[in-house]
Amino acid sequence: MYLSYLLVIFFSFHSGLSTACPRRCSCDTAQSVQCYRATEIPREIPFTTRRLYISHSKIRQLQITDFRRMSALEELVLSCSGTESIENNTFKALSTLKSLELYKNQLTQIPTFLPSGLEILKLADNSINTLYASDFEGLMKLRVLDVRNNLIATLPPSAFSSLCNLQSLILDGNNMESVSAPLKLPRLKYLSMADNKLNSFATNFFASFQNLQFLSLSGNFLTKVPLDLPKSLLSLKLEKNQLKTIRLRDMKHLENLSEFFLSENQLTSIDGVQLLPNLTTLELSKNQLHTMPLRLPGRLQKLDCSNNLIQRVTAQDFQGLQDLKHLFLDNNAVSMFEAGALQQCAQLSNLALEQNLLISIPLRQVNLRTAGSQVLPDTLARLDLKGNDIEDVGEQELKDLKQLQVLNLRNNKISALDRKVLEYLPRLRHLYLDGNPWNCTCDLLRTRRALVAKGTDVRGGQCAAPAESRGESWMSSKKILQQCEDNLSSMERGKEDRKKMKPSEASSTGVNTDDDYYDYELD
Ligand SMILES: *[C@@H]1O[C@H](CO)[C@@H](O)[C@H](O)[C@H]1NC(C)=O
Ligand SMILES: *[C@@H]1O[C@H](CO)[C@@H](O)[C@H](O)[C@H]1NC(C)=O
Ligand SMILES: *[C@@H]1O[C@H](CO)[C@@H](O)[C@H](O)[C@H]1NC(C)=O
Ligand SMILES: *[C@@H]1O[C@H](CO)[C@@H](O)[C@H](O)[C@H]1NC(C)=O
Ligand SMILES: *[C@@H]1O[C@H](CO)[C@@H](O)[C@H](O)[C@H]1NC(C)=O
Repeated sequence: MYLSYLLVIFFSFHSGLSTACPRRCSCDTAQSVQCYRATEIPREIPFTTRRLYISHSKIRQLQITDFRRMSALEELVLSCSGTESIENNTFKALSTLKSLELYKNQLTQIPTFLPSGLEILKLADNSINTLYASDFEGLMKLRVLDVRNNLIATLPPSAFSSLCNLQSLILDGNNMESVSAPLKLPRLKYLSMADNKLNSFATNFFASFQNLQFLSLSGNFLTKVPLDLPKSLLSLKLEKNQLKTIRLRDMKHLENLSEFFLSENQLTSIDGVQLLPNLTTLELSKNQLHTMPLRLPGRLQKLDCSNNLIQRVTAQDFQGLQDLKHLFLDNNAVSMFEAGALQQCAQLSNLALEQNLLISIPLRQVNLRTAGSQVLPDTLARLDLKGNDIEDVGEQELKDLKQLQVLNLRNNKISALDRKVLEYLPRLRHLYLDGNPWNCTCDLLRTRRALVAKGTDVRGGQCAAPAESRGESWMSSKKILQQCEDNLSSMERGKEDRKKMKPSEASSTGVNTDDDYYDYELD
């Protein structure tokens, strides 16, 4: 009797404090509510809610009455809900609102009268075609503005004049052809205008961006690098434009520039990158370079010259590049790779030379006095030579590559592989040998046994000779095994079995085992 009395009190007290969670929503104790498949903003959302996430709904219009009671709301995300219009002043009274995201809807304009405490506004993937001078009035605290993938064609100069704290402005995927008057955004650090139709910038456009660190203008119609880029830049993306030349002397004030992306342009040569002393990444893939870039800066860690027309690599090209870790020269026409070219690159980890015209593994030491010592850096972890014209793989070229984990020799003209070569590669995990005309002698079978014993993952390929073994797979053919059975002494077999790797040694880090795809990201 007494107990049930207590329960009644308890329940009435409890329900008075918290309202039930609305239908099709889930509410958690951190005052966060998520709703799906709503046809309007649910009426019963608790007024203590701080974060409200609504998606995959059908809410064509937002009205003042929708959010009136939500006086604690800090973050509102309404996405993929077909929202077309928003009544004036809908958000104005939400004085605690810091973050408003309305992406993937059908808005045609920036919501009007936004609350002055707003810090983040994301309106990506809508149909906004015009920015009005009044749109961002009074948003002095706004830090992030993302309007990517809309239909904006011009930037009215005064539209951003209130945004004295804006740090990040994302305008990717709009219809801008030119940007005229300079914008005054003194705190801006990140500006991205990729995938528009920009072909020029007014002089001084960038002058007021005293703190800009990241600039992307990729995917436009630029034929020249804009002048007067801010000297605070750390990263500059100009990929997928129509640049034919670059005047690096106009850029030498970019003393802190660390990453420079120029892939997919029409550059025929590039000289003087050493004027950018802090450059660590230079990407030049898919241009029309006939020679290696001249005078590279000494701090370079990643150089991508893949998919060009380079024919020769000389020792001069890599002079002083002591920090180079990743070198991509694949898909060129390199037939000459001077011996010792990479001698100074004592940290090189990835070397991509696939799809060239090499007839031997490069860098065989030709100096008679030091003959025998290899000159590929022993830090190398991945070496890709797929799709060249290499016939011989000798001990000299691969000697002492103690760190090598991936070796790709696919699609070359190699017919024999001495098992001694493998002794110099203690960490080898992945070996690609298919697409070569293997001569399946019993010697090759010994190599196969050594590979199996090491636990290396091998793509072996097929035999081209002798005639009776043609078409057999040399890593797994029982026929070849039988033919050679008598030729392998039992003693030899026993020795190889004992050399089997311990599982702990056999594990390798970060190597994709599916195919010859590797993750080359720095660190
Ligand atoms: C909403 O505000 C704009 C700009 O102040 C004004 O021009 C427009 O008439 C208002 N719309 C309504 C329906 O009140
Ligand atoms: C370059 O970087 C240094 C160190 O971070 C900084 O002190 C300096 O102000 C930067 N230079 C420019 C022009 O931003
Ligand atoms: C860039 O290089 C200059 C000159 O070598 C140096 O003084 C400066 O500190 C470097 N800036 C950064 C960010 O490393
Ligand atoms: C295969 O190797 C054997 C033994 O070294 C050699 O006699 C033969 O000519 C080679 N065949 C081809 C097609 O290279
Ligand atoms: C095995 O060795 C014998 C003699 O040493 C030789 O005649 C025979 O051709 C070898 N078999 C193969 C498949 O190489």
